[in-house]
Amino acid sequence: MSNRVISPVNRREFLEQVGRMSLGTAVAAGLAGATAAGSEPQPSKPWQPVSDRKVRVGIVGYGVCQFGAAFGFQDHPNVEIVAVSDLIPERCRALMKACRCGQSYESLEVLVQDPKIEAVFVATDAPSHPRHCREVLHHGKHVMSAVPAAFGSIEEAEQLLETVQKTGLKYMMAETSCYREDCYAMRQIYRAGGFGRLVYSEGEYYHSSPKPIDSFKGWRIGLPPLWYPTHSTAYYIGVTGKRFTSVSCIGFNAGFPENRPGANRYNNPFSDEVALFQTSEGGSSRMLMCKGVQGYVVEQGRVFGEKGRMDGTRYQGAVKMLPDLARPALPPKVPAGGHGGSHGHLTDEFITSILKDRQPLVNIYEALALTVPGIIAHQSALKGGETLKVPQYNPPQA
Ligand SMILES: NC(=O)c1ccc[n+]([C@@H]2O[C@H](COP(=O)([O-])OP(=O)(O)OC[C@H]3O[C@@H](n4cnc5c(N)ncnc54)[C@H](O)[C@@H]3O)[C@@H](O)[C@H]2O)c1
Repeated sequence: MSNRVISPVNRREFLEQVGRMSLGTAVAAGLAGATAAGSEPQPSKPWQPVSDRKVRVGIVGYGVCQFGAAFGFQDHPNVEIVAVSDLIPERCRALMKACRCGQSYESLEVLVQDPKIEAVFVATDAPSHPRHCREVLHHGKHVMSAVPAAFGSIEEAEQLLETVQKTGLKYMMAETSCYREDCYAMRQIYRAGGFGRLVYSEGEYYHSSPKPIDSFKGWRIGLPPLWYPTHSTAYYIGVTGKRFTSVSCIGFNAGFPENRPGANRYNNPFSDEVALFQTSEGGSSRMLMCKGVQGYVVEQGRVFGEKGRMDGTRYQGAVKMLPDLARPALPPKVPAGGHGGSHGHLTDEFITSILKDRQPLVNIYEALALTVPGIIAHQSALKGGETLKVPQYNPPQA
């Protein structure tokens, strides 16, 4: 089986596969003109503004990944960046420059007091996400959070859910895999019935890191791998909107110094975790986060259904007519950005959800369904693979 993700080199192969499914579909989907080597499926329609209003945004966090400026908020025609913040003054100045913003605050806690700001992008360290997002929501502002929604604590995850429910404000988690080209296409095919129920799915985040990547106050040192599950779990939850119900997980120790007894704050012996989940459709799903596989860095997944399958570059199935598989058009100056061209789409989805007063794709329920199963998987790994139930977070029925 091919494990390749869609890359500039193999996009053509993807398009050929899509084209093979149904020529009529490809034309209907607006993909017909997109078969030049190296091109992606092109949106069938240009970007259409839904409003001429500008959402007044605050941005917090310009750490090792410089995420605060990486999602194109500063280029979105429906956004005015009111202020930015990072605790470290030189990062704060750099974020001001990158966002072309003249106002900054010394911390998120001060920024949220600015009454002009109506939405905040929280791109701070992972352990602080639930606390920071609740702080934003408590001040009456919508929030988009970098992943994960919560960091190892079910209690914090549930407090966040409660705050979102109580305030009625928009919450979105910026899971990049959800807007990768392949995952986006899988979601459209799933919704159109092109896979049927998923018998089995796989999601993978390999990030070879014999030395931990730098981070604020060292939160990545000895990090339990599946506390950071969302790039993988997107290849089931982000495709189907269904749930994991139970898990058995196996941990592996690649012998890194950070995983020696007492060497990390999490008391975590594992560099790698591989989990097998049961799904609410009655299938199974293998999700992993591995740091110990030498030299390997990739985020990818594949799905296998009763009526079809797709492995990132290949769809094979029984469908006759497919919906549009190309990601929606972006505003002219918003770059698609990193992580498979997902950044711009996440920003546009968050801003559009505010403008249209609707739920964003990765709302609090989907965010917890992507995040919490990894926390339980780590508990299972610590118990030698014992099967554990996964708590369920579903939106209230309309
Ligand atoms: N593909 C992806 O979705 C992806 C990839 C990389 C990183 N991330 C996520 O992005 C986030 C940022 O990653 P990073 O590596 O840059 O993090 P980091 O730990 O290097 O930096 C966090 C920054 O937040 C700032 N900060 C913390 N508390 C603050 C507060 N109260 N007020 C103002 N600033 C505050 C710190 O000063 C620091 O500069 C992380 O949560 C990470 O999980 C996601």
